[in-house]
Amino acid sequence: MKGLFDLKGKVAIVTGGNGGIGLGIARGLASAGANLAIAARNEAKTAQAVKGLQEEFGVKAIGVKVDVKDEKQVKDMVKKVLDTFGRIDILFNNAGTNIRKLPQEYVVDEWEEVLNVNLRSAFLCSQAVYPAMKAAGGGKIINTGSMTSIFGAAKVMLYSTSKGGIVQMGRCLANAWAQDNIQVNAILPGFINTDLTRQGRKDIPELEERVNARTPAGRWGEPDDLAGTAVFLASKASDFVTGVALPVDGGFSIAML
Ligand SMILES: NC(=O)c1ccc[n+]([C@@H]2O[C@H](COP(=O)([O-])OP(=O)(O)OC[C@H]3O[C@@H](n4cnc5c(N)ncnc54)[C@H](OP(=O)(O)O)[C@@H]3O)[C@@H](O)[C@H]2O)c1
Repeated sequence: MKGLFDLKGKVAIVTGGNGGIGLGIARGLASAGANLAIAARNEAKTAQAVKGLQEEFGVKAIGVKVDVKDEKQVKDMVKKVLDTFGRIDILFNNAGTNIRKLPQEYVVDEWEEVLNVNLRSAFLCSQAVYPAMKAAGGGKIINTGSMTSIFGAAKVMLYSTSKGGIVQMGRCLANAWAQDNIQVNAILPGFINTDLTRQGRKDIPELEERVNARTPAGRWGEPDDLAGTAVFLASKASDFVTGVALPVDGGFSIAML
C-alpha cells in the first residue's frame, strides 16, 4: 500500500502539455514526483511550461518540439525522451484540436486535420512507446477523450468521431497490452476553461451559462481539476484498472437535464 500514488523516478510524456488540460495533467504528475517530457509544436510556450514545472515542483522536465500527426516526428520524440531519461513509464495522449461546423460544411482536409491530430496521433504515440514499456515490464497510457466520446452535437462531428474513436482504440490497446502490464485508460473531461473552449465561447455566446446550468457542480472545470485523476491513472493505484473511460466533468454526464 505504501506509495500508491507516488511517481518519483517515473518519466511521463504529455502531448499538448504546454497549456490547458495538458499542463494541468503535467502539474499533477509533477506534484507526485514524475519527470516530464512536454511535447507540442509551439516552442516558446513549451519552454515556459517546462520552466514553470521545474521551478514549482523541482522535477526534471524537457520540451520536445513535435507535430503529433507526423510518424517520424513522433518516433524522434520517443527517441529523445529515451536518450534523455532512459525510460518512459507514462504516456498521456492529450494533444487535440477542433473545427466547429455543420457536417455538410466540412471539407476532406478538415477531416484529416481533426482526425489526425486527435486520433492518429494517439495511435502513433502509443505504438512508438510500446517497445520501451514492454521491455521495462509495464506502463500507463492515458488518452484524453471528451463528453463528445459519449454525446453527439451538430457542430462537432469530426471532433466527436475522433473522441469516440480514441476510447475504442484505448479499449483495444488495453486488451492487447494487458499481458505486458500496460494499462490503457481514458479521461473524459467535461467543459474545462482553456484556449480551446475560449474559442468555443466566442463562437457560441450562451455556452458559458448553458454549461453552468447543465453541470451539477454548477461551474466550468479548470485544468488543475484533471490533476488528481491523472495521478491515479498514471500510478500503481490503478494497476488493475484498464480500458475505462473516466469522466472528470462535475457530473455533466450523469445529469438528466
Ligand atoms: N477544454 C475542454 O473543455 C476539453 C474538454 C474535453 C476534452 N478536451 C481535450 O483536451 C485536450 C487538450 O485540450 P485543451 O482544452 O487543453 O486545449 P488547448 O489549450 O488548445 O491545448 C491543445 C494542446 O494540443 C497541442 N497540439 C495541438 N495540435 C498539435 C499537434 N499537431 N502536434 C502537437 N501538439 C499539438 C497544443 O500545443 P501546440 O499548439 O504548441 O502544438 C496544445 O498544447 C484535447 O485533446 C481536447 O480535445 C478539452
